[in-house]
Amino acid sequence: MDNFVHMKSPTDIKACIFDLDGVIVDTAHFHFLGWKRLADELNIPFTEEENEKLKGVPRMESLAHILGLGNIELPESEKRDLAIRKNEWYKEYIKGMDPDDILPGVTSFIDELHASNIQVAIASSSKNAGTVVDKINYRDKIQALVDGNMVKKGKPDPELFLLAASMLNVDPHFCVVFEDAYSGIEAALKAEMRNIGIGEPEYLNNADFVIPGFSKFSLTGLKQLYLLPV
Ligand code: BG6
Ligand code: MG
Repeated sequence: MDNFVHMKSPTDIKACIFDLDGVIVDTAHFHFLGWKRLADELNIPFTEEENEKLKGVPRMESLAHILGLGNIELPESEKRDLAIRKNEWYKEYIKGMDPDDILPGVTSFIDELHASNIQVAIASSSKNAGTVVDKINYRDKIQALVDGNMVKKGKPDPELFLLAASMLNVDPHFCVVFEDAYSGIEAALKAEMRNIGIGEPEYLNNADFVIPGFSKFSLTGLKQLYLLPV
């Protein structure tokens, strides 16, 4: 745990910033399926474990990583075409999504935050984030949405989270980030925000704390982790 940053943290939480893919909905799996299909076509070995490194990482950087695994160099125009293909598959996979796809416990946790006057934002590297938010009817649940169309750099750069905090008008030190990606936790740390990893501690060893999901999580539990008054 990185105590240094949080020693400076105020004894309050004013905003929670959620990653989308793999935190609110299981679209992280659809991203993997898209990349796997592309890698298979290019005869590049690509595993779910390797995919952990791509979680949170923007589209073109993810493609560059996969091509690197196969030692393949391509002109920019061909890379664009491949990225478009993967994205078309991804859009096909998310077509049937609806509010039933929201992961267990997420909505009740967010409702609890609102009841305690804690603001809520979604910050995702994905350019498809708005589409997914609409499919699950989540516009009214959040005060800000920051996606990959709005920033120059995706995660692990802190730009997405800092923009979310500024849209909410909250100092980054009062924010908590929820992330399933190593790159997303890196971004939160660079933004000097508290952060909770969602998933396996093995992959999220840079996070302040790791939880398996929201079904047994509450605001009281969050405050207790940071030794804040409840
Ligand atoms: C992140 C996902 O949220 O968005 C990554 O974790 C994905 O897997 C990235 O590559 C970019 O998404 P998109 O939809 O713009 O290709
Ligand atoms: Mg994610």
